[in-house]
Amino acid sequence: MIGNSEAMHRIFDLVKRVSNAPTNVLITGESGTGKEVVAKAIHFNGPLKDKPFITVNCGAIPESLMESEMFGHKKGSFTSAISDKPGLFEAADGGTLFLDEVGELPPSIQVKLLRALQERVIRRVGATDDIKVEVRIIAATNRNLEAMVKEETFRQDLFYRLNVINIHTPSLRERREDIPLLAAYFLKKYNDKMNKNITGISVEAMEMMKKYDYPGNVRELENLIERTVALEAGSSVLPESLPPFVSTPTGRKLASSQEIEVTEEGIDLDKIVGQIEKELIVKAIHTANGTKKKAAKLLNITFRSMRYRVEKYNLGTIGDDELTDSD
Ligand SMILES: Nc1ncnc2c1ncn2[C@@H]1O[C@H](COP(=O)(O)OP(=O)(O)OP(=O)(O)O)[C@@H](O)[C@H]1O
Ligand SMILES: [Mg+2]
Repeated sequence: MIGNSEAMHRIFDLVKRVSNAPTNVLITGESGTGKEVVAKAIHFNGPLKDKPFITVNCGAIPESLMESEMFGHKKGSFTSAISDKPGLFEAADGGTLFLDEVGELPPSIQVKLLRALQERVIRRVGATDDIKVEVRIIAATNRNLEAMVKEETFRQDLFYRLNVINIHTPSLRERREDIPLLAAYFLKKYNDKMNKNITGISVEAMEMMKKYDYPGNVRELENLIERTVALEAGSSVLPESLPPFVSTPTGRKLASSQEIEVTEEGIDLDKIVGQIEKELIVKAIHTANGTKKKAAKLLNITFRSMRYRVEKYNLGTIGDDELTDSD
């Protein structure tokens, strides 16, 4: 795990302490912040490191198969159950069960998981007897479980069982000082992988990379470096090697709109896009020293299209020239 920020040092410290005791851990944080990396670090730095580490992606298994996947089944308990089969809980016995995307667990499985944690026994689908299991649970989610508890979509008693220790992985924009270190690490990784020899990242390019917001966090930074290494013909990463959403302020602003959440209440797409469009037109007119015709060129749109937008956004008073039909 790479990181030199204070936030990451706190996480290293927590991981070290937590790995020595078999307590359950809940890892929370945005997508791509390293939750799985933390889960593995806890397991593989502790006394259970030679025991199994089993991952269950709770969001990827259909509800109808989930119980049998997790707890196993007896032969004949349903049509396709052609033999006795242990579940992932039994597979993880003595080690760690990593419940990824735990917020996606359906209520019926939440009840069964709670029982497994409280009584340390599971029962295969179709069986009549319990099986003892000793499993440490590390769970991860990018959802707000406390809010889900309030909405009653996640069981409170289960939440407390899982959240004995909470580790929160901070977003990359809250620890920008880690960007150069991570970038250097990924540069080496993809140099090796692609047999390239890109020696470094220029100061200007690094400045741009540090300003970008990374809605996809470390995963997005890694993808950015991978892409750059693949495309780079020169010996180092320069500003022009970077995609425009990283290398220009406007691009960065547009890219950050990826953070606009589409919630149940819905959003007004036209209004949001219109706002961005209007801002860019005003900027272009300024850059063009007030000439709308030139601004249209800068934006790669026709004069007609410019005139339509100027009217739409009521920008007639900005700039010097009138756009007429003859344009
Ligand atoms: N501190 C770190 N040092 C090195 N690599 C990291 C670090 N944090 C994350 N990564 C890398 O970034 C990628 C995303 O990390 P990971 O899969 O752990 O994120 P996650 O929080 O589980 O994301 P999601 O919620 O989308 O599942 C992985 O390729 C991982 O190796
Ligand atoms: Mg993950």
